[in-house]
Amino acid sequence: MAATPQTFDPTNVQGDVLPGLPKRVQHYLLFQIDDDVAAFRKRLNLLIPLITTTAEVQDHRAKIAAYKKAATALGIILPPLPMWGVNIAFSHSGLVKLGMNDDIGDTAFTKGQLADSKSLGDPGASGKDDTFTPDWITQFKNPIHGVIIISGDSHLSVDAAHTTVSSIFNIGFQPTLHEALTLKGSIRPGDQKGHEHFGFLDGISQPAVKDFDTKPDPGQETVRQGVILCGRENDADARTGKPFVRPAWALDGSFLTLRYLAQLVPEFNNFLKASEDPLHGLTADLIGARLMGRWKSGAPTDLFPLQDNPAAGMDPAQRSNFTYDPSSQDRCPFAAHTRKANPRADLESKGFSTENRRIIRRGIQFGPEVTAEEAASGKTQHDRGLIFVAYSGSITNGFQFIQKSWANNTKFPIDKPVDPGFDPVIGQNGADSVRLRSMTGVHPDNTGESFPLPADWVVPKGGEYFFSPSISALRSTFALA
Ligand code: HEM
Repeated sequence: MAATPQTFDPTNVQGDVLPGLPKRVQHYLLFQIDDDVAAFRKRLNLLIPLITTTAEVQDHRAKIAAYKKAATALGIILPPLPMWGVNIAFSHSGLVKLGMNDDIGDTAFTKGQLADSKSLGDPGASGKDDTFTPDWITQFKNPIHGVIIISGDSHLSVDAAHTTVSSIFNIGFQPTLHEALTLKGSIRPGDQKGHEHFGFLDGISQPAVKDFDTKPDPGQETVRQGVILCGRENDADARTGKPFVRPAWALDGSFLTLRYLAQLVPEFNNFLKASEDPLHGLTADLIGARLMGRWKSGAPTDLFPLQDNPAAGMDPAQRSNFTYDPSSQDRCPFAAHTRKANPRADLESKGFSTENRRIIRRGIQFGPEVTAEEAASGKTQHDRGLIFVAYSGSITNGFQFIQKSWANNTKFPIDKPVDPGFDPVIGQNGADSVRLRSMTGVHPDNTGESFPLPADWVVPKGGEYFFSPSISALRSTFALA
């Protein structure tokens, strides 16, 4: 048998994992496979040539850059380059439906996110016999077998690609899948491009992947390929260091965590305003920055604790070049979202590596901008939020651990002079309304003071764990010749 090459082949890994599909608009087509599984597997052969690989995304990005450069040189503003991309991933129930019963070596994936929702702290209702039903939308409470991701430059391109994809599986009178739900996302307009709905620049801090992202920004951590791709170097259990045992077809696939997260933007903004303390220089902007760990511009509070620096927020050479002072939350609260989700020196100074905890975040915003009426009333009237998507070589090492053991854990980061409290953005205490959320470190001149977080401004509405196989695995194992 030929030995596994040291590094992955960019034509064999789906394009959303490492470089990320270019997108202004994105559909997540969540599907159930119909009863004729063999027919579905045959149709999958028709989708495979449409799947956008890592190599193709690199090519798309080079074209976009050249197009923008040429337009700038001519001093003209052009519409985005027409482009679309497609990827596919399967849930555990999808693999079972396909008759693939191998243990893939990830307990979170095998259990599924619905069964995991209670331990993730999602709000919901406990019933008899230890049952739990999260407050999710109905479609996520039924099995979802897979997701087809369709990205593009415009609604027009994505709608057209979506029609092509649907017709592949539903040609003639014999449909082979049906859409349980399509989540439709788009980037925010104008100067909010790249910002999530609370207004903060997102998608800044991602790990660089060894031998792929060869020019990391200052402060950007490089992780070994197995942290993101199954079967590669350091695809290992973070607690024991032991390599995960995977079936051969899992090589160069990646786990995809999807969370459908509503954001209560007018309520969040009102809370920031109501918490202002002008006598002590505590403005709504400063509170927001201390909750997130970055200013809306992207500038980290660890470098710019009291004053925003928009130029630094734009500058890849500056904006990730910090580590946190493990003994202090003067510059950034211990519980700030970015510090909880990637604690840097808080753990590294104790000799703990965070490499296996890193994830690559994708995803996109959904829902309209806040209307004047919503802003005035302080109440959300239109659903909006984040379709959160993260790739990792392991869900138990990555998303699940970050959510449960870091964001929801009031004592994390550990060994601090005061309890950090909840991650104010995503930390959850489930249905337990008695234990209200709070954090410390918000007042820069009184960091030990407890700061109540009277509401959850991010509300999970559903989600699932998926596996994004390599192209060769799709051909040889998922599809039927
Ligand atoms: C609606 C929900 C969320 C919002 C509004 C949000 C917002 C943000 C923002 C503004 C940043 C800073 C920009 C950046 O570094 O890219 C960030 C970073 C990050 N977020 Fe979230 N996020 C959300 C959900 C999540 C979830 C569910 C997780 C995982 C459990 C997560 C994990 C991370 C990580 C790992 C970072 C990078 C931290 C670093 O390396 O410094 N986020 N998020």
